[in-house]
Amino acid sequence: MRQTLEEVASPPSSGASRHLLPAGEKREYAAPSHPHPVASSLPGGYIFGRQVAKVPSSSLHQSSETPMSSRIKLHRDGPEFSRLVWGAFRIADSRETSEIASIARTVDTCLDAGITTIDHADIYGGYRVEALFGEMLASRPDLRNRIELVTKCGIALTGPARPEHRVKHYNSSAEHIRRSLETSLRNLKVDHIDLLLLHRPDPLLDAAEVAGVLEALVAEGKTRAVGVSNYTPSQFALLQSKLNIPLAANQIELSVTHTAPLDDGTLDDCQRLGIAPMAWSPLGGGRLFDKEKGNPALVDLLTGLAGKYDVHSPGAIALAWLLRLPSKPLPIIGSTDPKRVKTLARAGEIDLDLQDWFQILETASGQPVP
Ligand SMILES: NC(=O)c1ccc[n+]([C@@H]2O[C@H](COP(=O)([O-])OP(=O)(O)OC[C@H]3O[C@@H](n4cnc5c(N)ncnc54)[C@H](OP(=O)(O)O)[C@@H]3O)[C@@H](O)[C@H]2O)c1
Repeated sequence: MRQTLEEVASPPSSGASRHLLPAGEKREYAAPSHPHPVASSLPGGYIFGRQVAKVPSSSLHQSSETPMSSRIKLHRDGPEFSRLVWGAFRIADSRETSEIASIARTVDTCLDAGITTIDHADIYGGYRVEALFGEMLASRPDLRNRIELVTKCGIALTGPARPEHRVKHYNSSAEHIRRSLETSLRNLKVDHIDLLLLHRPDPLLDAAEVAGVLEALVAEGKTRAVGVSNYTPSQFALLQSKLNIPLAANQIELSVTHTAPLDDGTLDDCQRLGIAPMAWSPLGGGRLFDKEKGNPALVDLLTGLAGKYDVHSPGAIALAWLLRLPSKPLPIIGSTDPKRVKTLARAGEIDLDLQDWFQILETASGQPVP
């Protein structure tokens, strides 16, 4: 039976949207904490880039945030992003979605829904997506100051855009990282971005060399912060050990269909360090909804819960499941359909009940927790 819902107002200082709870349930909100004024006031933290003692709280980057705030600091010193992010990965996949007007429509929809952070990579769309997005920004100069931009570098694809590449490979040389970011800035038609990520761990990465160029790019104002993607905790710790600035993010695959980071230490590490993970393919790249190849019981459960929480989008429930994690992941929505983006963004309104959360985990893994 579908339950009615009561709307729970956010605490006045949060600025967050309304949160939906099943009728009759009450949840206490933590009082908003306050930003750490300076890192040196903490009993632990970074001194010349070395982590010197225990980081005291899981909420380092969640200053002034409430559990369901629509914005979050990636790290205590890091940029502030929207809790839900939109990824531009797929916009070059069809003629329709690569039209400039269509990209602008999707970005407008994101902004209306409180999604201001946009994820790119140099290689998306066979190295074409950033330039399409830059064209859109040139036609809509009003958008630039309303969004935060993330891009990545380090993967070298084969194909017509890079005929000199004989084999897919990684390039983590300082020269390549600098050249890649400068090309991204030109393509996006902006003078800086908010976050530069190293796209994949690279067996040939020289941590000291990479740290040097990342620090220089931040000092030059070309990116406000730096981070990594798809890194294990030890790969993260190695690079951080050579850096005098904090890595602000680890962008990882994370969804109800890919829960490995819950158990392999990745999310523990993020919570310990107070670094927000960014969750790519939060709907399993759309495979979540494939009843034939996927998990039909999971689709049915998410659909039922979408009714219970009155959002009518099983995808929004899958995103709300991620938002409930204490490491505060930022799911990156990959849909190119503005209508879908709008309904998925309702995830931010859902405060998923504890047992619903575990029911989803059990159905996704096919077994109860031990
Ligand atoms: N760091 C990395 O290594 C890495 C790797 C992959 C991706 N990423 C980033 O993560 C972002 C998100 O990844 P993703 O695109 O895989 O995310 P996703 O949100 O899991 O998947 C998006 C795909 O699912 C489809 N979809 C959404 N709802 C659906 C529904 N109800 N029924 C059927 N299909 C549905 C979308 O189709 P429509 O477009 O038609 O809605 C789209 O093709 C990317 O844009 C990129 O920025 C990063």
